[in-house]
Amino acid sequence: PRAHIELDRKAVVAPVRRRTFGSFVEHLGRCVYTGIYEPEHPSANEDGFRMDVVDLVRELGSTTVRYPGGNFVSGFRWEDSIGPRDKRPVRRDLAWHSLESNQVGLDEFARWLKLTGSELMLAVNVATRGILPALDLLEYANHPSGTALSDLRIANGTPEPHNVRMWCLGNEMDGPWQTGFMTADDYGKIAARTAAAMKMADKDLELVVCGSSGSGMPTFGDWERTVLEHSYEHVDYVSCHAYYQELDGDLGSFLASAVDMDFFIDTVVATADHVGGKKRSRKKIDVSFDEWNVWYLKEHQESQEVGTEWRHAPRQLEDVYTVADAVVVGNLLMTLLRHSDRVTSASLAQLVNVIAPIMTEPGGPAWRQTTFHPFSITSRLASGEVIRPVIEAPVYETARHGEASVVDAVATADEDRAAVFLVNRDLREAAQVTIDVRSLGSSRVAEALTLADSDVYARNTLAEQDRVSPYVNTSAALADGLVTVDLPPVSWTAIALH
Ligand code: AHR
Repeated sequence: PRAHIELDRKAVVAPVRRRTFGSFVEHLGRCVYTGIYEPEHPSANEDGFRMDVVDLVRELGSTTVRYPGGNFVSGFRWEDSIGPRDKRPVRRDLAWHSLESNQVGLDEFARWLKLTGSELMLAVNVATRGILPALDLLEYANHPSGTALSDLRIANGTPEPHNVRMWCLGNEMDGPWQTGFMTADDYGKIAARTAAAMKMADKDLELVVCGSSGSGMPTFGDWERTVLEHSYEHVDYVSCHAYYQELDGDLGSFLASAVDMDFFIDTVVATADHVGGKKRSRKKIDVSFDEWNVWYLKEHQESQEVGTEWRHAPRQLEDVYTVADAVVVGNLLMTLLRHSDRVTSASLAQLVNVIAPIMTEPGGPAWRQTTFHPFSITSRLASGEVIRPVIEAPVYETARHGEASVVDAVATADEDRAAVFLVNRDLREAAQVTIDVRSLGSSRVAEALTLADSDVYARNTLAEQDRVSPYVNTSAALADGLVTVDLPPVSWTAIALH
């Protein structure tokens, strides 16, 4: 197929938000224990954190990190995970049917974040706990000194407040799997009261109310409306969560997953604006897309990995990603960028071992999954403002998501550089693409990287850690304001222009 893309420097969506490149660390499986934290590992620092993983997280370019859950947070007592480590209790985590040693908690995790240069986004348990524990956590985390809980933090070795700006009011409260799940009415009231109280302590907090766990939830749309009718004045974000996978051997539908994400975002924004309009409010609620990824959820649900035994840090949700998965991840990230006017925060779920771009072996190496690459390259190259492209390309019909463009793209432009991100969803043929970049004022292709493989199911594994990595796309050229590039079938590409 052939495609043509027009880029108009004036067609600005919004600034590139650094928080779009957030990720997520949950106390789940081996994300924390033997993922980021393994005191016995040869690369461990004095806090027990694996420095080989820190290096990869920095390379990934993730910004905000959501913590400590996820479903985990709905059974979590934050007080368990502070103070002397030998006094911390071992608890059962009902969400993942495993044991939590609490050896990593807020103070350690905040130190880890400093190593990676990321921002903390903290979730509070509103499912099985009340307003006061949330306020206590806020005091412990953010109050400078001179109160019981801020002085306790200081006594625990953290003199400076963590100054956490973004807070999630629970997690996936619409999901029957959530410990303490609620109706939209019940949750909306609790979220409103918790948010109002937290803002009495600090009016500048950015609070995220739970939206739907997926666009396929039976309550989707009504959930957002009801929850926001209760909480609109007190919150700043509504969350979206979405996981995609290839089902029934339908790769064409899977590659068009971003079409669903588009629909999801548009619907949630429309619903939030509907509530705001009814309230005659000038305030806009933004979207925090704080869980998104490819996840082989069906296989997970059919597996025995969340078993009946109470184990510490079991291997759970350790999906091994393919080239096709990486193309979808790159495309989903393009969709998030394209919605930067309202999606101002997002978290790739998750960061290490658990449906993650980074894998580790206890006592052994850490390596990049296929999905690492589009994320890392986009985070590095996207800067300035997001430009809305006009794409002329053939469309194809998908069973799951209706019509999809064979080629999808988004661009960003800064003062002295620009970047174009592209996917070719065609299963068999390369796409010949031309991109009109005259209005960007670029004069040369500085970099052109493609992720593709003759085997779209090729993966990186412990035995073959670099089986899949991006290569230089030598077809990319810029002449007379026109970029020409060939995109292999099922591929993701980034072009940096100077
Ligand atoms: O990311 C894995 C799980 O997916 C999270 O704990 C939960 O919020 C979602 O269902």
